[in-house]
Amino acid sequence: MSGQTRMILAMFAALVFVLGNGLGVRAEESQPGQDDFSFVQLSDTHWGFDDPKINPHPEDPLSKAIDVINRLNPQPDFIVLTGDLTHKTDNAEERRIRMNKLLEKVRLLNVKNIKFIPGEDDAGSDNGETFKEMVGATHYAFDHQGVHFIVLDNASNSDSSLGDEQLKWLAGTLQKFNSDSRIVVFVHRPLFDLYPRWGWQTPDGSKALDLLTPYKNVTVFYGHIHQVDHSMSGPVAMHAAKGMMYVYPAAGSALTNAPVPWNPDLPYDGLGFRNVKVRFNPDEYKITEYPVTGLVAEPLEHVIQITARRYAFDPSEIKIKMGVPVVLELTSLDVKHSFNCPDLGVRDEIVPGKVTRIRVQAPRGGMFVFKSDIDSLTEQGEMQGRITVVR
Ligand SMILES: [Fe+2]
Repeated sequence: MSGQTRMILAMFAALVFVLGNGLGVRAEESQPGQDDFSFVQLSDTHWGFDDPKINPHPEDPLSKAIDVINRLNPQPDFIVLTGDLTHKTDNAEERRIRMNKLLEKVRLLNVKNIKFIPGEDDAGSDNGETFKEMVGATHYAFDHQGVHFIVLDNASNSDSSLGDEQLKWLAGTLQKFNSDSRIVVFVHRPLFDLYPRWGWQTPDGSKALDLLTPYKNVTVFYGHIHQVDHSMSGPVAMHAAKGMMYVYPAAGSALTNAPVPWNPDLPYDGLGFRNVKVRFNPDEYKITEYPVTGLVAEPLEHVIQITARRYAFDPSEIKIKMGVPVVLELTSLDVKHSFNCPDLGVRDEIVPGKVTRIRVQAPRGGMFVFKSDIDSLTEQGEMQGRITVVR
């Protein structure tokens, strides 16, 4: 898929993303009554999995995660399970037993607003019939605090496609929104060709991305690959979550995508969930990755310090990576200046004695000029610098 970038950021415990990806995009104005909120993404719980070499304590990760989630403060507004709730079985009765036990388990969550999405392990063997009967619809939409959430099913069809009917429904749903609407998609499998050799794709996912691309503020959360991954396709940001039962190797790093064996020295390593905090002012969302044991490292931020003085920035040449959030810390050594980079959609004043923090995330490569638009013109020219965004 052209124009798509991927970056592995699993080493970061918390990441902040700018809604609309920060490139000259102004999200629709927050409405009165819209409050910041959070939701939790759990994925690939694979209830019923049984292989002690891979996970000798198969019920523990979800129990531990529920305990951690129940202690989150504030509590998330809702919890989404992005597929493979149960481990695959061709026995219809066993499938129902597993789903029933999983549903019983998640009832231990204090938060009762739970959204479910099928994975192919849940729905691929019977076209989603058991899921529909025991859980509910496999694709649907809902609004929360002014954010439009869309749940897609790329698991029920035997080829893991979305299918023309669902794509038509998606097109009709999107028609109700304007180009600045905040849109979040939940889906099990990646909509792009992450690694087709291992089935990490959706055969007609590009059709869904084509429908989503005209919208400026689209974020996709998915599972299936049992590890954190952050990718962009044009303006669409996509975030894969860890699994709760076992870990897959990174794409192409092993001969097959057989689950990684249990490491007794690092129990539960690689298993976890994420909390997503959505803010409206500024427009951003923060992803915090939790191991099932609930210990979270301090967030790591890439910070670049810049000073401003008549009539230059130091440094005036900055290099950042496409798609990777960076915080610019700006200080003035004399009078008030500003940092204005219209092509990255950011501007703020730099007041002497204060530190101005500006978060940027560039979704495309290139050169972006920034200027001070206060007291800037000199005989030598404008007070300015350049940000080079590399892929
Ligand atoms: Fe899975």
